[in-house]
Amino acid sequence: MPTYEEEYNSLIESTKQYLMQQADLFGNIIYTEEQKQAAPQGLKFSSVYPDEAWTRSASLDEQNGQICNCLKCGLGQTRTNFVFGVGNPNADVMFIGEAPGADEDAQGIPFVGRAGQLLTKIIEAVQMKRDDVYICNILKCRPPNNRDPEPAEMETCTPYLYKQIEIIKPKFIICLGRISAQWILKTNSSLGGMRGKVHDFHGIKLIVTYHPAALLRNPNWKYDTWEDMKMFKRLYDEMKA
Ligand code: URA
Repeated sequence: MPTYEEEYNSLIESTKQYLMQQADLFGNIIYTEEQKQAAPQGLKFSSVYPDEAWTRSASLDEQNGQICNCLKCGLGQTRTNFVFGVGNPNADVMFIGEAPGADEDAQGIPFVGRAGQLLTKIIEAVQMKRDDVYICNILKCRPPNNRDPEPAEMETCTPYLYKQIEIIKPKFIICLGRISAQWILKTNSSLGGMRGKVHDFHGIKLIVTYHPAALLRNPNWKYDTWEDMKMFKRLYDEMKA
């Protein structure tokens, strides 16, 4: 039984998270749910963009071309390659990981190392091809020694991700791992608390599952990942029916 103080703190924390997510998307104006529904799709993300040329990109290639020399955070100094994203620019499904690792940094393509090969198998397990979907990360540059992304780095890089989402207009987002999911959903919930349900990310169905690198370390979690992917596939097939 939580104490009164625990309940109070949890309420404050969830209100703070909600307001931060709204501020990310709408700036410092609080819209009613009706106003948000009535707003044109583009407004939702455009308020978080700085006034820079890349924000007006009409395609992923154009966006990548405009931002691939980014030096907005320290990772620009240590990366080998900027890792923008890969896949179908009209994908219904977007997989979002955390940050490039060594293989991805070397090749400039997300999820090409061992974890990436497992991700490809996970996608194929639901009768899709890697080329059907779009794959990217919160961070576009590798953190040295694969350390966790820092909040300031994610803050800086997130407008790039939002612009990718705006161009692709996926119907589903699948967040790979705790860090990606917590950041996008603006929550401190555990992975267990975020899995097994369908979240709404501004009209896009968002599902959370294990990061494939975690599955390489803990193969026992593959069963739960399969459950998550079956839930996704059921919703996807319903949407296509
Ligand atoms: N882990 C990630 O989160 N992303 C990659 O691209 C590779 C490994």
